[in-house]
Amino acid sequence: MSDKLPLTGNERQVKTSEIISTRTDPQGLIAFANSAFLQVTGFTSDEVLGKPHNIVRHPDVPRCIYSVLWQALRDGETFFGVTKNRTKSGEHYWTFGYFHPDIKAGSGEIVGFRSTRKGFHDAQLKQSFDELFSEVSQVELAQPRAEQVRAGLEALKKALKKRGFSDYQSMSRLALA
Ligand SMILES: Cc1cc2nc3c(=O)[nH]c(=O)nc-3n(C[C@H](O)[C@H](O)[C@H](O)COP(=O)(O)O)c2cc1C
Repeated sequence: MSDKLPLTGNERQVKTSEIISTRTDPQGLIAFANSAFLQVTGFTSDEVLGKPHNIVRHPDVPRCIYSVLWQALRDGETFFGVTKNRTKSGEHYWTFGYFHPDIKAGSGEIVGFRSTRKGFHDAQLKQSFDELFSEVSQVELAQPRAEQVRAGLEALKKALKKRGFSDYQSMSRLALA
């Protein structure tokens, strides 16, 4: 059973000792989740293995953020960024994550993807990301589904520029300070 409970609005702080790591297959289905992932999210290994990574998706995060992530990974590039996710019991947790494709030596084939994340504890920064997400989501949700990512990407670019950042990774870097 991986039934998720409604969102509570409460935060599950990620401790410094909880370094979260996951690996997916080329389709984004979870092939490995470390004990910190299970501890923070409240899922068991059986509940997540073979499931799409959106099992921890938080609805506050605009769709275009994941479009940027997937574009980079499918291009064989690395990506880092702030993520807001949900736990099984409906809390949310913030991390700074590093994502990269798993590339087979020799053939260059992408055989999966990996992410490694740590928590961060700057409440004001979390609020800034919430504001950014909300601004972009409003634009996305005003569009029919087929148009949401395109409109979101445009809104994201504008919202980041207004805040003095060239892209999502630059703003996310603040979580490393
Ligand atoms: C290695 C890796 C890690 C990912 N981590 C997350 C994550 O922590 N949270 C999340 O919502 N999506 C994550 N995704 C993206 C999901 O696969 C998915 O694109 C996203 O949740 C949007 O889902 P949706 O299309 O159902 O809205 C990850 C993907 C990969 C390849």
